[in-house]
Amino acid sequence: MVSPIKPPQRLLMGPGPINADPRVLRVMGEPLLGQFDPEFRRYMSEASELYRGVFQTKNRWTLLIDGTARAGIEAALVSMIEPGDRVLVPVFGRFGHLIAEISRRCGGDVKTIETAWGTVFPDEILEREVKHHRPKVVAVCHGDTSTTMAQPLEALGRACRDHDALLYVDATATLGGMDLPVDAWHLDVASAGLQKCLGGPPGIAPLTLNARAETCIKRRRHVEQGLKHSEEGDGEGPVIRSNYFDLAMVMDYWSDKALNHHTEATSMLYAAHECGRIVLDEGLSRSFERHARASRALCAGLEAMGLNLFGDRQHKMPNVTGVQIPEGADGEKIRRTLLEEFNIEIGTSFGPLHGKIWRIGTMGYNARLDAVLTTLGALEAVLARERRQTPRTTVTEAASAAYRVD
Ligand SMILES: Cc1ncc(COP(=O)(O)O)c(C=O)c1O
Repeated sequence: MVSPIKPPQRLLMGPGPINADPRVLRVMGEPLLGQFDPEFRRYMSEASELYRGVFQTKNRWTLLIDGTARAGIEAALVSMIEPGDRVLVPVFGRFGHLIAEISRRCGGDVKTIETAWGTVFPDEILEREVKHHRPKVVAVCHGDTSTTMAQPLEALGRACRDHDALLYVDATATLGGMDLPVDAWHLDVASAGLQKCLGGPPGIAPLTLNARAETCIKRRRHVEQGLKHSEEGDGEGPVIRSNYFDLAMVMDYWSDKALNHHTEATSMLYAAHECGRIVLDEGLSRSFERHARASRALCAGLEAMGLNLFGDRQHKMPNVTGVQIPEGADGEKIRRTLLEEFNIEIGTSFGPLHGKIWRIGTMGYNARLDAVLTTLGALEAVLARERRQTPRTTVTEAASAAYRVD
């Protein structure tokens, strides 16, 4: 007989997933409802309203895509990009490459621009490229967890408006942890996941889109055969290449039309609803400040340990920190010891950073001083063991001092 799942109690301090807020896990155990039950439809419309608050938008179409954060990215891109459309993708880490690859799969004529991992693009470069390439869609990551950098977006939003491009933003790792005023920055579509700064499990992707994006997507609306009413006509644009991620049908599902497109992931919707409530109960600016303080504390502690931080400090995300693996240390062995002996997970890295940095998250429910101090204390102990030294006593003190606001 296979025994029931009984996972160890880990402290998840990698770049996501993080430990979900217990409030979220509790609500996931609530009874299931049918997706057209009036009570459930009310939760859906409350979820839309909550995420309007979190995305700082008035967008009518603020909804949830079933699937991990990548589902939100795919839904946005496959619904907007028609074969042959020009797409500009600024790449400053792994998730820019992912956006470019999904855009190519949608048939887009994709132009990428790249900057070294650990840096971001100056506004002027992005403005110049938008002006020069005249893309229909610009698709960019806000905070790329692979490099820990956050790309400033305000000037890009203006440039896209000036040159009539639609701007899609992957805010998976920043929503709730960094300011992302969707309307004020002219972001046409943005999507996220729960498992980072929103304090939930992976499995559903909040997404918002404005009227410009709606026009682009609605002209491709083709309701699937078995659901169509006789009077319904198709849009004049080409059919969206994915049924599951067809935002035209997903909008119909979330609207009063209640199109029977898919079965909503009931417990994940409960989770997203609770995550939205938690973030707005705390207040966005307080949540951003909590992430920034936890990150300051972590950085101070790591530096007090004699470690070097990775990347451009000015553009570092406050929710993930890259730290260079010290010369001669076995990064993977240290990560393994942290996991096995201390029950703490920190992140590895990919691409050009593989084997060079660890990534430590201070996100969502784990953007707390005690989680930071526990991680620092454990890392210091494991490193000292590697180096056959006694741990210094200043590390946690440096972190606590940096956390205090006075
Ligand atoms: C910036 C960013 N975008 C997208 C993703 C993909 O998210 P998921 O694995 O939930 O599909 C991640 C995951 O780490 C991410 O950090």
